[in-house]
Amino acid sequence: VRTPSSMDSEHYKRLAAHAALELLPETGILGLGTGSTTRYFIEAGAELVRNGRTYTGVPTSEGSRELAARLGVELVDDDGPWDVALAVDGADEVSPELDLIKGAGGAHTREKIVNFAARKNVIVVDESKLSPKLGVRRAVPVEVLCFAHRETAHLIANHGKPTLRRVGGEPFLTDSGNYVYDVETGPIDAPPELDVALKTIPGVVEPGLFCGRADVVIVAGSAGIHSLFAKPPRLG
Ligand code: A5P
Repeated sequence: VRTPSSMDSEHYKRLAAHAALELLPETGILGLGTGSTTRYFIEAGAELVRNGRTYTGVPTSEGSRELAARLGVELVDDDGPWDVALAVDGADEVSPELDLIKGAGGAHTREKIVNFAARKNVIVVDESKLSPKLGVRRAVPVEVLCFAHRETAHLIANHGKPTLRRVGGEPFLTDSGNYVYDVETGPIDAPPELDVALKTIPGVVEPGLFCGRADVVIVAGSAGIHSLFAKPPRLG
């Protein structure tokens, strides 16, 4: 059995991201996700804009903002509300029910806000993200206020083992200036309930659980590209 190389994985990410172009409306506001897969989508979307399509973007991170702006995509202001026709984003773990763990890049709070603002949400992943159950492969990122973060983590610990995310020895800071705890939960039996339980803890800004928030998940892998659809469809 041949194990997938990182080159395969980049190829699959690009394929999945480019497949999302087929689902774009003719014009309108697009949610621009964050991460290495969505990057391919932003680059390809910018090319459509250069060729005459009229899209405006809502970026979900400073990284996506810089990339889109550099490529000439017009961006809306940060305040909202926005009428987002469609948002395209990546994910870290995808369950058979199309629930997601997101936030490996620490962008999940803005991603969730844009997801809720969008009429349709398309998730683009390579096949390594598919999982029989959330929590099997990934910890759940939870963005928390810096104030009293150890107190917040103490309560989060009722749901798993929280580790403060660090980069180069220093606590990682989100684009909004908060900390992230990565919470090892093990297999999650009821993701929506865990999402609510974590969200209820004072000091928690947002857990990286997206339950019932994907309309379509486009998966690229060794067997080609296929789309998984939410059942029942969230919309129309
Ligand atoms: C950002 O914080 C995440 O939610 C990303 O959307 C997710 O990590 C997917 O990233 P990759 O496409 O780089 O795997």
